[in-house]
Amino acid sequence: MIELAPSLLAADWMHLGREIENMLNHGVNLLHFDVMDAHFVPNLSFGPDLCSDVHRLFPECRLDVHLMMNNPQSYWRIFAEAGAETITLHREVLADPRTAMEALRSLGVRRGMAVKPGTPAEDLLPYLDCLDHILIMTVEPGFGGQTFMPEQMDKVRMLRDKGFTGDIAVDGGINLDTARVAVQAGANVLVMGTSYFHSDDPGRVARAVKEFK
Ligand code: DX5
Ligand code: ZN
Repeated sequence: MIELAPSLLAADWMHLGREIENMLNHGVNLLHFDVMDAHFVPNLSFGPDLCSDVHRLFPECRLDVHLMMNNPQSYWRIFAEAGAETITLHREVLADPRTAMEALRSLGVRRGMAVKPGTPAEDLLPYLDCLDHILIMTVEPGFGGQTFMPEQMDKVRMLRDKGFTGDIAVDGGINLDTARVAVQAGANVLVMGTSYFHSDDPGRVARAVKEFK
């Protein structure tokens, strides 16, 4: 199944509740939650308190937490307790990825691993058996509104060729055109910040994604 995961980073932060309510009314219940620590990426976003508020007010909203942090081990329990369904850690900061994934499993969350554009997908191969979710960055992480890097689709194709059957998400510069390219390569989770929340008609974007095969 192809799923849309709007990225809260691009929502109107002065009206977050309304933004999430609208999203749920569009039949979308997966929210991408970008956590940035100003070290792993040159930007700051939001933290676990907002995650738990969203979870408390909108329990039907599944939270897909993308930790762009140097020390995710200090926070993965906190985000699990804040209601994350999936927690995605960056391969680049994990000294012992398998143990990190075991920790996520013991917290009862889905286990995700992400790679930046410069990190080869081969770095994920030894861990495919312990991953529920892979996130392929299609821009340099840190900011919304950048341009999709089509060459990253080689990673998606390679991971499917190696037999990975879990979720493969693409993140950065995804709109209805680039989404099609990503789905053809084998991605099934489409993170959309700008092209969803800044759209004149986000409901139309949600409906268009539901038509994807
Ligand atoms: C970038 C974040 C993305 C970002 C995508 O570092 O991981 O989730 O919000 O934004 P768009 O869709 O605007 O490229
Ligand atoms: Zn993200």
